[in-house]
Amino acid sequence: MKDVLEQLDAKRQAARAGGGEKRVLAQHEKGKLSARERIEVLLDDGSFEEFDMFVEHQCSDFGMDEKKIPGDGVVTGSGTINGRLVYLFAKDFTVFGGSLSLAHAKKIMKVQDAALRNGAPILGLFDAGGARIQEGVDALGGYAEIFQRNVLASGVVPQISVIMGPCAGGDVYSPAMTDFIFMVKDTSYMYVTGPDVVKTVTNEVVTHEELGGASIHAKKSGVADGAFENDIEALVQMRRLVDFLPLNNREKVPARPSYDKPDRIEPSLDTLVPPNPNKPYDIKELIRKTADEGDFFEIAPDYATNIVTGFGRLEGQTVGFVANQPMSLAGVLDIDASKKGARFVRFCDAFSIPIVTFVDVPGFLPGTKQEYGGLIKHGAKLLFAYAEATVPKLTVITRKAYGGAYDVMASKHLRGDINYAWPTAEIAVMGAKGAAEIIHRADLGDEEKMAAHTKEYEDRFANPFVAASRGYLDDVIQPRSTRVRLIKALRTLKNKNLSNPWKKHDNLPL
Ligand code: HXC
Repeated sequence: MKDVLEQLDAKRQAARAGGGEKRVLAQHEKGKLSARERIEVLLDDGSFEEFDMFVEHQCSDFGMDEKKIPGDGVVTGSGTINGRLVYLFAKDFTVFGGSLSLAHAKKIMKVQDAALRNGAPILGLFDAGGARIQEGVDALGGYAEIFQRNVLASGVVPQISVIMGPCAGGDVYSPAMTDFIFMVKDTSYMYVTGPDVVKTVTNEVVTHEELGGASIHAKKSGVADGAFENDIEALVQMRRLVDFLPLNNREKVPARPSYDKPDRIEPSLDTLVPPNPNKPYDIKELIRKTADEGDFFEIAPDYATNIVTGFGRLEGQTVGFVANQPMSLAGVLDIDASKKGARFVRFCDAFSIPIVTFVDVPGFLPGTKQEYGGLIKHGAKLLFAYAEATVPKLTVITRKAYGGAYDVMASKHLRGDINYAWPTAEIAVMGAKGAAEIIHRADLGDEEKMAAHTKEYEDRFANPFVAASRGYLDDVIQPRSTRVRLIKALRTLKNKNLSNPWKKHDNLPL
């Protein structure tokens, strides 16, 4: 018996060693942790239950039968984050560059199946060179089966991808179909084809970082929802994010006890909106002063900064905040902001997370660049997302709510449950100057008359009371009491029961 136990111990140690000390050291030299070290940081101490540590590839081409390493380049299993179940896989770059063989793919499928069956989030940590080049079609098939499971799990369990090294070829599409992608600055990159192929095909010369580094995807392409300084920060932040999320689409997020009083008044908010309507202010100040303990997990903070999205809590319950940001492009809705907002709203709706929307929007961004880029279709994504959402929707208009953007931003007309405005709100078809120029075209050139017309339009619409008189707003509230009023409103919506007509699925304008 002792022999067998020793053998088991030896086998386990061999699997845990991955590609060996030298390769782990090389990871460290690049500023990266090994797959197992990452799992240790991500999960609660001692909670990791590993699957399939003895799995080996079955490839015999190119001398691969001589090269087998138990685990085959991915560490998989389950564990807990602050006591709540999650499934995970972590690519091990020290074993065949983390590349995907059929055996490796099957390990990932097993955790995907378990996560779906048992209703728990799945986290994937990526650090790999794509399809195992020696394997051919088996590796391609393996990818497709992972993709299929990503799609089936979408909207059922939260799926989170963290890119912590190379992520190329087949490896990029699985993260792309998960709910969130995060990257590590300087050590991770993500692209469909690498710099060498790019050079051959297009003659462009680019570095890994320029083509697919965290700075590109978190700021420019919007592929990533955030970038962190190093592996540890990324993993610690994933623990924080998981705390905001439900385990699956049938469960609520457990309320988290908060020391922040529900009746906390914030007098400083009374002066947040500057007297000059063209002056910006930071909408994140309102989010932080509204959320429990100011705790806000922002999604995509550096992309489409004219809209702010992220998770916070009200009276311990997770809510999704969506807010126009006057500090960036005056909070206008453009293609990128519409896509970012729509995706976030749909995530919240899929996982029954109430949505709190703060509105200060001058409209959709005009211009050929936007129209040629398909603003109509992309803007419609945000409209579609809000209109189909059946979760509690709470809206506060702080200042501008102009034109179509008024409709889009969780208005009463899109089944907003509670719609409030601050006294500083201006709800109109467009800004007063533009409106006066159209209505009184004959007086253009007469400055005095135009000033009077502009003022007349302002007096009529630069306030929330016309909308309130129609019942499109439920109340005009004091800025200082925003948190209190939202919390009270949320309490009334605990048992909200609303569903959309039966359909196979909708046809979101893609
Ligand atoms: C097999 C691989 C591998 C792969 C890396 N390795 N990628 N083995 N298949 N795809 C091995 C290397 O041979 C090496 O083994 C070890 O991993 C470390 O790799 P290095 O190249 O030394 O590391 P580094 O210099 O850091 O470069 C990392 C890298 C590079 C940029 C990822 O390895 C690379 O370009 N790999 C190939 C990427 C690629 O073209 N993948 C196929 C994509 S096509 P030794 O033993 O020498 O240390 C694809 C199609 C699927 O994925 C589509 C499905 C939809």
